[in-house]
This record gives sequence, C-alpha cells and structure tokens, in this order.
Amino acid sequence: MLHEFEKLPGLVKDHVHCDIVAAPYPDRLQDVLPTSLMHEAQQEIAQWHGYEPTPLHSLVALAGELDLSAIYYKDEGLRFGLGSFKALGGAFAVIKQLQEVIESRTGNRVSMESIRKGEHADLCGQITVASATAGNHGRSLAWGAQRAGCPCKIYIHAGVGDARKEAMEAFGAEVIRVAGDYDASVYHAAAEADKNGWFIVSDTSYPGYLERPRDIMAGYTVMVREVLDALEPDNLPTHVFLQTGCGGLAAGFAGGLWLETGADLPRIVVVEPTEAPCLLLSARNHAATAYQIEVESMMVGLSCGEVSILAWDILEPCSSDYITITDDGIPPAMRLLASGAPGGIPIVGGESGVAGLAALIDAARRQDLRTGLGLSENSRVLLIGSEGATSPDIYQEIVGHAAA
Ligand SMILES: Cc1ncc(COP(=O)(O)O)c(C=O)c1O
Repeated sequence: MLHEFEKLPGLVKDHVHCDIVAAPYPDRLQDVLPTSLMHEAQQEIAQWHGYEPTPLHSLVALAGELDLSAIYYKDEGLRFGLGSFKALGGAFAVIKQLQEVIESRTGNRVSMESIRKGEHADLCGQITVASATAGNHGRSLAWGAQRAGCPCKIYIHAGVGDARKEAMEAFGAEVIRVAGDYDASVYHAAAEADKNGWFIVSDTSYPGYLERPRDIMAGYTVMVREVLDALEPDNLPTHVFLQTGCGGLAAGFAGGLWLETGADLPRIVVVEPTEAPCLLLSARNHAATAYQIEVESMMVGLSCGEVSILAWDILEPCSSDYITITDDGIPPAMRLLASGAPGGIPIVGGESGVAGLAALIDAARRQDLRTGLGLSENSRVLLIGSEGATSPDIYQEIVGHAAA
C-alpha cells in the first residue's frame, strides 16, 4: 500500500516539541474564542439548508500498516458541496457581519436566520463584503454572500488557478486578480475596502481586526461536535494532526476540542509546508512569528506566512508539536486515498487536505519521529481531510482520473 512512499526521502523536515500543561479550557481563552460563540455557530450552521455531518472514515488497513490503533479521516471535501471545511467559517462570518451592520444602520438586531433566508436582501444589497483568498475561504464567503443577497469582492493573486476563480464567480462574487503573492492580494483587498466602505471578512486576525476571524474559528468547531458524536468515548483520538495556513483551522478545532475534553485534550500536532513554517517558527520563538514566503507550496491553502494572532493565543498553550513537510508526499497521499486501500473506499483528498495524512505516514514510520510524537500501537490519530478536489484539473493530473 505504501510503495510510493518507500522511494521518498523523509517528508517531515523539522519538528518543534513544546511541553503542554494538561488543564481545562482556560477562562482567559473565553476572550479569544468564547464558549457562547462556539455554540451559536454550531446551532446556526446546523440549520443551514443541506447541512449534514461530513463522514468520519476509519482507515483500518492503513492503521494496521503503520502499527497504530486507529486512523480517522474526516472528509471535509463533502462540506455543503463547497469542497472544503472553509464552508463553515466564511459563510457564518458573513451573516455575523451583516447582522452587525444592519443593527448599526437601523438600530434593529435581526436574527441570523432572517439574514440567511434573504429577508433583508434590500439592506444586505447595500453592504459589500470583501476578502483576499487562496480559494477556499473566498468560495465560502461568496456562497454566504449570495444567500444573504450582499455583493462580494474577492481578491486573488497570480498563483490561484482559474478553476478556483470560476468557482467563486459561480456564487456571484466579483473576483479580482492582482499581481504578486497572497500578501499583495490582502493589501489590495484592504485598500479597496477602505476606499469604498466595504467590510473585510478575513479568516486571519491581526491587531485591531479580530471579530470575523473569531466567528470563522467558531464555525470550524462544528467539526469537533461531529467527531465527538461519531466516536464512542473510549475511542476518542489520542492525537490530532492539523494542517495550518494562518492557523484558524487548527485553533478552531483544537479550541473546540479542548473545551469538550478539558485536561484530556489529545496531543495536537500542527503540520505546515516547509515553505511556510510560520507556526513552527512561532513555537520556536514563543511568539507569533511571520515568515517571508519565497517558494509557493503545492499545498496552496497552507501557503501562508502570517500567523493569525487569535489562533496563536489558542495553539500556544495546547499544541505540543509543530512539524513541517515537503510537497513530495502530497501526490502519493492523494493517490493512496483515491485507491481506497487505506479504509476500503476511495476518498477524494486535495493537496492541502492530505497534508496531515502525508505527515502521519512519514512520522509513524520513522523511529525518531514516532518516539518524538508519542505514536505507538495504542495511538488513535484523527486527521482532518480539509478539502476535496477544489482544483479539479490539478486533482486529475495528480491522481490520473477525475474526482468521483
Ligand atoms: C484545504 C485547506 N486546509 C487547511 C487550510 C488552513 O486553514 P487556516 O488558514 O485556517 O490555518 C486551508 C486554508 O485555506 C485550506 O484551504
């Protein structure tokens, strides 16, 4: 099953371990990601048309091959037909943004349900949301904006493929391509929003910009609820591998899980591309640390050099390990899932979606990392398959056939 991996040199290039003090979700994190907001997001999103929990696959054969007790793979490729977990974040934050603006303009606090159902389309039509994106966040934003009836402007950089652009346009967004890298698209989105009175709905936080990224992380906790509902209490994971761009996914998931499991929080392992190791550097420096990206990883969603400061507030006290991986393991991991061999049915995983899987395959087979990450035949590892074939053309090129 792992023949493609036999030929590869070690995929994991760097590992930083941090000692974590087991403790319940700290009160001080209520200011970062409050329990009430997590519950609000979970209740709201469960009402959305088409909502259903995404599958949690048990990769039994692969777990046996890697001498682990279990590997769970949560397939976010099936989330709301949008192809990634991001559907849970941006679309929720759009509703929160509209609720806030409508209240400030009319004095009335309208319900999220009424916004979602398009009942305030006249007001929403005058509120423009905007963001930079590598693709998945923008798709979520465009989808949420279309439902509420508000205009949406999305800024992408040169490296974002046409398929991703078209997917956002299909939800009615105006997509503007700018020269330069992701940071350039962030800059343009912010400058245009400032000039035109638009509202930035970004998934990354920075000093002075916290509310929408907080909403987005709260939206991601829906995945936690679903995982806990799907597993028997005796089978909860001992480890969670979470791939990161700015850290929102990892922090939302780890934060939500921490709230639920308290001092029994599984070991949180953050996975990044070697080309964008901002969280690993932050762990090494004990402070949020940016990294100047020089080469774009094929894990496009993870190619991010700036740490979301809210995410870091959550990850620092709860993530024990930070590792970086090269791109080399990504195509083999996508093909492995597509073969159906790991769990008995084929699974569609995109380039960023399989990062945790690629990292685990390497880590479980290298004695130094196996020991360093505390992996053993008793370990149950949860992976978040954060996207499906969000770039169908690239998926087909790598896997050899179109995504089913
Ligand atoms: C498929 C996929 N996985 C993981 C991530 C990482 O999420 P975050 O930037 O919140 O860390 C992204 C971000 O765009 C993504 O698109």
